[in-house]
Amino acid sequence: VRERERARIARDLHDELGQALTALKLDLLRLSNAPPLPAELGRMVSAVEQMIVSVRRIATDLHPALLDDLGLAATLEWYVGEFERRTGIRCGFRSRGVDEAAIDPDRRTALFRMFQEGLTNVARHSAATRVLATLTMGRAIICLRVRDNGRGRPSGDRAGCGLAGLRARAAAFGGRVAIKCAPGRGTTVSIRVPRAL
Ligand SMILES: Nc1ncnc2c1ncn2[C@@H]1O[C@H](COP(=O)(O)OP(=O)(O)OP(=O)(O)O)[C@@H](O)[C@H]1O
Ligand SMILES: [Mg+2]
Repeated sequence: VRERERARIARDLHDELGQALTALKLDLLRLSNAPPLPAELGRMVSAVEQMIVSVRRIATDLHPALLDDLGLAATLEWYVGEFERRTGIRCGFRSRGVDEAAIDPDRRTALFRMFQEGLTNVARHSAATRVLATLTMGRAIICLRVRDNGRGRPSGDRAGCGLAGLRARAAAFGGRVAIKCAPGRGTTVSIRVPRAL
């Protein structure tokens, strides 16, 4: 239910605020009939453009529409591209045996959130230069793996909310999370969730 609410807010944000801002931008542009724009107007236009970008970002963070439209694999692939662009860390994605119709919406969203946390951790903690993410679907389980070539997660590291949340999310579907790492040889986070309870 909370996720459905997020999806609705994301759509409203994207549609209403996004359109209103675009209309505002066009009005501003019409205020001057010939380029170049007066400096103040130019600043207002770029401010509005930034707001449009923010609204889009906030809406997709809330709930990527892609998830419902194209499914999990396509959304992960898209996210990997964004991640690479944002962080400069080379990131690959592979999927095998994925049957989108067989993944229920709750699992789909949960897996996407877990993926986000995994990649965010890579960006924040790993000092990695490469990441490989894989989504595999077997007859009984869905497996999502994020492997980086960074420093490895020292076992004494403080437990944050992120990994705890990851475990809790997986557990909610009867699944579990395994973290493998060796100092200097990277970290692998494997998430396994049954296809159905
Ligand atoms: N890919 C990784 N490479 C190296 N260290 C990692 C990696 N992922 C997690 N860690 C270590 O494990 C710790 C716990 O991660 P966790 O996601 O639970 O918390 P966090 O990212 O620090 O904070 P947050 O609650 O915002 O997620 C991190 O602080 C970090 O030291
Ligand atoms: Mg984290």
